[in-house]
Amino acid sequence: MSQPPTLLADARCFALLPCAGSGSRAGTAAPKQYQPVAGVPMVRHTLAAFAAVSRIARVLVVVAPGDGVLAADASISVAACGGATRAESVFNGLAALRAQGVRDDDWVLVHDAARCLITPAQIDALIDACLPDAVGGLLALPLPDTLKSESGGRVVATIDRDHKWLAQTPQMFRLGLLHDALAARAATGFAGITDEASAVEAAGFQPLLVRGSAQNIKVTYPEDFALAEAVLRSRTT
Ligand code: C5P
Repeated sequence: MSQPPTLLADARCFALLPCAGSGSRAGTAAPKQYQPVAGVPMVRHTLAAFAAVSRIARVLVVVAPGDGVLAADASISVAACGGATRAESVFNGLAALRAQGVRDDDWVLVHDAARCLITPAQIDALIDACLPDAVGGLLALPLPDTLKSESGGRVVATIDRDHKWLAQTPQMFRLGLLHDALAARAATGFAGITDEASAVEAAGFQPLLVRGSAQNIKVTYPEDFALAEAVLRSRTT
C-alpha cells in the first residue's frame, strides 16, 4: 500500500455532485437527474440533503457543457465541465474545485446526483468515520443477495458473497489524493474506474467501508422512480 497523506486538523469538507449523465437506462426523455420525483427534479432532493450538513463548506454540481437547467438558481454552484464518463466528470469537477481555492488536503465527498434518497445522517456518518482516517472511504452495504455470473443469459457461476459489499456514494477522499489517482487513469480513458474508490485502490490505498442504507439507491431503471418517490413522501408524513 502507498504511503497515505498526513492528517491535517483544519481540513475542510466539500461535496462534488456528478450530474452530467444522460441516464439512458432510466427510459426518460430528459436526463434522469432532472426527472421530477415527489414534485421537484431529482437532483434537488440530493442537494437538500447536502445543504442540511453543516460541515459541508460548499457543494459543486458538475453538469454537461451547455446544460442550463440549474443555471437560473443562483444558490446552486454549477460547473459545466461534465465528461464522456462519470470518472471524467468527477476528474474535471475536482479541477474546478481546485481553481476555486479548494486545497489538496481538503476532503471531497463525491455523490451521484441520481442517489436522491441520501440523508444528512448518512452523510454525517461517513464524515465521522473518514475524518480521522488517513485514506478516506465510502458508504457501502454488505451484499444481501446471492451473486451470479452470466453468459448468454444463463448462469455460469455463483460467486461467493462473503466479504462482498455494494459500493454506494458519497465517497470521501482528500482532493489531492483523488485527483492524482484519477489522473493516473486518464490516459486509458478511466477504463475500469466506476467509482472514486476504484481509482484510489488502483493507486495502492485501501478505502474504509462505512455501512450505508439499502434506501440509498442510485435511481437507474424506470421502476426506481416510483420507489424513490414513495420513500421521499414517507419521510415527509
Ligand atoms: O449513469 P450512472 O447512473 O452510473 O451515473 C451516476 C451519476 O454520475 C449520475 O448522477 C450521472 O448524472 C453522473 N454522470 C456524470 N457524467 C457522466 C455519466 C454520469 O456526471 N458522463
